[in-house]
This record gives sequence, structure tokens and C-alpha cells, in this order.
Amino acid sequence: MSKKITIAIDGFSSTGKSTIAKQLAKELGYVYVDSGAMYRAMTLFAMNENFVSENHLNKNSLLENLDKATLHFQFNEALGFAEMYLNDVNVEKEIRTLEVSNLVSKIAAISEVRKKLVAIQKEIGKNKGVVMDGRDIGTVVFKDAELKLFMTSSAETRGKRRYDELIEKGDAVTYEAVLENVVERDRIDTTRDDSPLVKADDAIEIDNSDLTKEEQFEKVLKLANEKLRDI
Ligand code: DC
Repeated sequence: MSKKITIAIDGFSSTGKSTIAKQLAKELGYVYVDSGAMYRAMTLFAMNENFVSENHLNKNSLLENLDKATLHFQFNEALGFAEMYLNDVNVEKEIRTLEVSNLVSKIAAISEVRKKLVAIQKEIGKNKGVVMDGRDIGTVVFKDAELKLFMTSSAETRGKRRYDELIEKGDAVTYEAVLENVVERDRIDTTRDDSPLVKADDAIEIDNSDLTKEEQFEKVLKLANEKLRDI
């Protein structure tokens, strides 16, 4: 059996982590896991139960009901990646709205939520052959991943990318609101107490502000193939 590695991709929001992770997983025949989707699904759960809104967070009620949220991924052949399910309902579209984006960092800062999701992530990746993207994959979830990437690009580039994505989906958003969300999430994600977003010491930083998707893919595939040769 051919050897498999674990690939951890961390970085700021809208740095194109998921695009590169999906491309790598497809090329290598690995499983792609979007850990951000899990934090988004937990946020949707908290919103639906009225545990969180722009002005309030009822952490105790959320924690009391944490077991009522079950998450799983299901592969969609047509799309070529796994979609997120919350309590057996496909929530892939709902979790990508700006409303969820504006609340997700509050939920992702709660240690008990992180503990629950990290346990699921470790289980999914226990046999390697996984590309997982997020904020703490190389520092917490898979500390021993053979390849760790840390993606960066300017806030303006990222805001523009996310804005274009949302407009293409038909969302009525302004560039200013999207940029504000990107900057605010960076702030909360990097300053929270539990598992803040930091580059792992052994992660390779990739600033893709000036790289095309093709150039970026070529670069990371080369890194993955080097690791595969070395093990
Ligand atoms: O990757 P994303 O933008 O969809 O992630 C949504 C949020 O979830 C992000 O603002 C921070 C949080 N998150 C996290 O705290 N840890 C992860 N491993 C992945 C995401």
C-alpha cells in the first residue's frame, strides 16, 4: 500500500485555503476536510436555538445543548467534495452567509466547542491521507502532520475574493462590509485564548497575494510530493 501523509493547511480567512486543499486532495486521492465548516455549522445550530445573535451569547445554554448538535460530512459526487450536515440536514449553503461569518468567531472561541470538534477532526484523520484546512490544524489537531502550510495574503485581496464569491452566489453585500468581517475575524481568531491562529514553527508560509491559482497549486503539490518521497 502506498504511504500516506497528513496535510495541515492553516491561515487567515479567505486566503484560498479550501481551494488549494480541495485541489491537493483530488490530485493525491486524499480526503478533504473543511474544519471551518464545522465551526460554521455549530454557529448555525446556536443561531437556530437563539443562543447567539449580534448582541448576545448564551454560552451556558449552548454548552448544555452541545450534545444535541451532530455533525457529519457526506461526499457529493457531482461537486467532488464532502458537504456539511447538521443533525442530518445539508447546511452547506446556509453556513456560508455573511450572518454566520459575523458570528462564527464567537462560537469558535468557546473551548468546549473546540474540544468537541477537534475530537471529530482527529478521528477523521487518524489513518492519514487527509488534507484539512482551518486555523489550528498544524498547531493543535495534527501537530505531527508531515506537511504544514500557512497561507497569507493582504486583507484587501482576501476581502475582494470573499466579496466576489458572495456576489456570484447572489448575496446582497458591500465590499466594505465583507472587508470589515475579514479584518474583525482575523482579530478575534488571532487573539482568542484557546488555540489562537498562529503559524506552527514547522509550517511553510505561502503568501499568495501575487500567485495565480495554478502557480500556487504547482508550488504546494511539489512540497507534498517531496514529503511523500521522504517518508
Ligand atoms: O475557514 P472559515 O473562514 O470557513 O472558518 C470560519 C471560522 O471558524 C473562522 O473565522 C475561525 C473558525 N475556525 C477555527 O477557529 N478553527 C478552525 N480549525 C477552523 C475555523
